[in-house]
Amino acid sequence: MITNNGFDVLHAHAQRLQGTGIPSLMAAEPDRVQRMALKVGPLYVNFARQKYDRAALDALLELAAARDVAGGFQRLFAGQKINLTEDRSVLHSALRGNASDAPVALAAHAEATAVQAQMGGLIKTLEASNVTDIVSVGIGGSDLGPRLVADALRPAAGARFRVHFVSNVDGAAMQRTLATLDPATTAGILISKTFGTQETLLNGRILCDWLGGSERLYAVSANPERAAKAFDIAAERVLPMWDWVGGRYSLWSAVGFPIALAIGFERFGQLLEGAAQMDAHAASAPLAENLPVLHALTDIWNRNVLGYATHAVMTYDQRMALLPAYLQQLVMESLGKRVKCDGSPVDGDTVPVWWGGAGTDVQHSFFQALHQGTSIVPADFIGCVRNDDPYEINHQALLANLLAQTEALANGQDSEDPHRQYPGGRPSTMILLDALTPQSLGALIAMYEHAVYVQSLIWDINAFDQFGVELGKQLASQLLPALQGETVEIADPMTRELLARLR
Ligand code: F6P
Repeated sequence: MITNNGFDVLHAHAQRLQGTGIPSLMAAEPDRVQRMALKVGPLYVNFARQKYDRAALDALLELAAARDVAGGFQRLFAGQKINLTEDRSVLHSALRGNASDAPVALAAHAEATAVQAQMGGLIKTLEASNVTDIVSVGIGGSDLGPRLVADALRPAAGARFRVHFVSNVDGAAMQRTLATLDPATTAGILISKTFGTQETLLNGRILCDWLGGSERLYAVSANPERAAKAFDIAAERVLPMWDWVGGRYSLWSAVGFPIALAIGFERFGQLLEGAAQMDAHAASAPLAENLPVLHALTDIWNRNVLGYATHAVMTYDQRMALLPAYLQQLVMESLGKRVKCDGSPVDGDTVPVWWGGAGTDVQHSFFQALHQGTSIVPADFIGCVRNDDPYEINHQALLANLLAQTEALANGQDSEDPHRQYPGGRPSTMILLDALTPQSLGALIAMYEHAVYVQSLIWDINAFDQFGVELGKQLASQLLPALQGETVEIADPMTRELLARLR
């Protein structure tokens, strides 16, 4: 019987387990390491170093069942309007496959496939041209996903196109990018779901002028008319997307155009296949064997039951170094909410702060705090079994460090000298990709997407809106004329003072 929204049972388990270290949990359950592992396609994930036991995990699974997580997946994949505040379907799964045979989902998939074909045609034309460099302009969901995947999967020896990303409204970003390029051999892609985003419009204007017009300019938008009109781009070079694709879930759509240019159209297709494989798993696996569900429940345990305020992601693969930045938007823009779907306050804490970096570098920066600081930071450690560079000894060293750090964090080490003592008890989840391929990266990202959704079901919040970012945008648009010398009524005394200084 679940009471108090299920959390009192979980707190009782945490109480019972207080003082039980990770080594004791291992000793108490001899098959724990095998039982707490899942292999889904190219991903192996092991939760054995989390601070719950079988009984606590069962209670978490009961909570997921009580919140109808399985039904939630069905509603998502079938295209029901689960983005309640915006009255929209959430169909990023339809961009990569048919996770449901609901007519809305099938229609969305058909539209997505047609746009992929259009994108393939544009890529062929570009390949046949003298273009060597692509500048992709977008921000947030129109930048972070393409930037991550293009960087992770670009061939070490170089590819047909060099793809550059500019997001920040700070002109220095555009200046530095353009300084290395020749307008005669460069094409630009402007990506904006709304085509109303200040950063992208300003940077797009700089790029368009630098290119000498819109002849080699492309756009991706859910508002294609606006995109075509604002920059005078020919309709055949404007790729559509739809309101049923959230910005931070959009890399699988035409927003992935720069990815396809950086890694090849065929490999872009393989990225989608990997994600579709994870969709199929999420839709059909029982809760206890469902990877996104287990990941999400682990996050709930660490946040709501153990009270940890942050969550780190460490990629032991340099090529995935941008993953923490990507996940910050995916997770924190989705789950950074304080009211439930019905508008009432949430029952407890929602998203922790997500952060991280690439090992081994981070071992020489913030790992001191992870090992001996006063805050416990649960972490995902992500590595690849197979190596793709020719430096085998380095790969072995990388993996040795991955194993060493997670073991040290979990088990600690006693010492009579308090300065040299490691308390241990720092939980982590181990995620191993067979190798870094388009399929495995697609599956990994989709796993995180679905884990976000499961948490939103547990907390009863909408993971698909982001009204929290609007107020700052509104204020900035009021303040811009003031910075340009116009007389504007400013109520806030600090802003008034700062404006006077800046002017
Ligand atoms: O910052 C908020 C946000 O709306 C994100 O959700 C979105 O990914 C980003 O801005 C960019 O928006 P657009 O693609 O419409 O330019």
